[in-house]
Amino acid sequence: MLRLDRWLVTLGIGSRSEMQKLIRKGGVKVDGVAVTDPGRQVDEKTAQLAVQGAAVDGRLTRHVMLHKPAGLLTAARDKKQPTVMDLLPETYAAIGCMPVGRLDKDTTGLLLLTTDGELNHRLLAPGRHVDKTYRATVDGPLDECHVAAFAAGLHIPEDGKEPAFDAAPARLTLEGDCTGVLTIQEGKFHQVKRMFRVVGREVMQLHRMTFGPLTLEDQLPEGAWRELTEDEAAVLYAAAQMKAGGAQ
Ligand code: URA
Repeated sequence: MLRLDRWLVTLGIGSRSEMQKLIRKGGVKVDGVAVTDPGRQVDEKTAQLAVQGAAVDGRLTRHVMLHKPAGLLTAARDKKQPTVMDLLPETYAAIGCMPVGRLDKDTTGLLLLTTDGELNHRLLAPGRHVDKTYRATVDGPLDECHVAAFAAGLHIPEDGKEPAFDAAPARLTLEGDCTGVLTIQEGKFHQVKRMFRVVGREVMQLHRMTFGPLTLEDQLPEGAWRELTEDEAAVLYAAAQMKAGGAQ
């Protein structure tokens, strides 16, 4: 339950004073009835909201699958460059829907976003071992020696401000001369590119195919997004060892 004016402000519809004015004027309906008290407690999970005659989706919990195109930053906002948030209606940023981890600006593919901070945190926690699968096209042939090197675990040297680390054993499947599908459970900065660099290959194209139990939907073109289905959200919560709506 929360105050009606606060609900509208959280959804990004307007400022507190604007919303209070609008509510007092009768411009907001809850379950089909105009409510003129801005402080009225409403159940945002079940109440149907309409603002100035138009139905408004009032859910404050949302989970999104987005097919990230190249050229956008993975960030909640940036002063200079466009971000993945520019692909979503403004409400999503207003209610705190945030990317789960980060894809580089030139990386394409599956990016999840959620309003659930605990879910976000757990999916990225190093101890959680959530699989992520990437298709990488590199600047030279890949063979069984590369597969074995990834499987053995690689020492990744320092890279600028990024410290060195030992990458856990990872599965590389060869797909073509210069293309491989790599599954890792970690998510260090530029991890895939740095791993390939250690075995003498530069990544030319990187595309994330899966994150935990979810696979990027084939039908979702670059730049498009959709909300997760209930089943998809449930398996994601299970991967984070959480119940939907709270940690176990
Ligand atoms: N590893 C990278 O190097 N880049 C990404 O965008 C994701 C994983």
